[in-house]
Amino acid sequence: MAIDEKKLTDAVLARMDGCDDARFKQVMSSLIRHLHDFVREIELTEAEWETAIRFLTATGQKCDDKRQEFILLSDTLGVSMLVDAINHRYGDGATETTVFGPFFVEGAPDVQMWADIRGAARGMPCYVSGTIRDLDGKPVANALIDVWQGDGEQGLYDVQIPDGQPYCRAKVHTDAQGRFGFLTVQPISYPVPTDGPVGAMLMKMGRHPFRPAHVHTMISAQGFRPLTTHLFVAGDQYLGSDAVFGVKDSLIVDFVRHEPGTAPDGRVCNEPFTTAHYDFVLARA
Ligand code: BEZ
Ligand code: FE
Repeated sequence: MAIDEKKLTDAVLARMDGCDDARFKQVMSSLIRHLHDFVREIELTEAEWETAIRFLTATGQKCDDKRQEFILLSDTLGVSMLVDAINHRYGDGATETTVFGPFFVEGAPDVQMWADIRGAARGMPCYVSGTIRDLDGKPVANALIDVWQGDGEQGLYDVQIPDGQPYCRAKVHTDAQGRFGFLTVQPISYPVPTDGPVGAMLMKMGRHPFRPAHVHTMISAQGFRPLTTHLFVAGDQYLGSDAVFGVKDSLIVDFVRHEPGTAPDGRVCNEPFTTAHYDFVLARA
């Protein structure tokens, strides 16, 4: 049988007749069909095919134990948020999820209520507080909130600074009334890493690389569905054009500016500061 443009797809699919993993076969069949249709639709030139191979090679070469350029590619093409949407179709009133991002680090320090987690990070003091409740409004005691964010002057995460000390990351716990509070720096918008092939791709697409200011949270509590999400700063100029499409309206929070005075932890703050309050809702597992 002569294999022409059209028959080629069927020929490739037929080579999987011996595959005994049904899901793998389904995934690969669909991938092959879509990929072939894509190549046919745009009539890919040999030069473009070579460019694509070089791009994917460079993406892999940019990855190491601190940098994951393929996740960044997935994020900036909207695939990460699509996977998030498909896997969290709950609509049950629990707090909405968003991207995990590449800057989480295991083993952040456990801290007490109103701990100062700023470390060496510069920026305006920011007191974040709130509650964690279940779908019936009952407080969830002893929940664990992993918190991480960039600094308040450049938007850099501690792991982006060679040989830097950890900052702005902690394991925060709720008290018996489901309350939590910590002192961090006011988050600012920042660009996703642009020094690799994904940065070049964004430029060529005419896109900016910025994410709106946010605090990352990952919450776990016995008997509840884990929750990975962000708190976004209301008014940020990039809320409508997040480079990774992670913004959901329900996650936008007022970060209110205050003049020097008594802070929510009861101590006096001698410089301007902000406060943000958010009530998380967890669903049972
Ligand atoms: C972040 O928010 O940390 C992030 C998420 C996706 C890509 C790059 C950065
Ligand atoms: Fe982030």
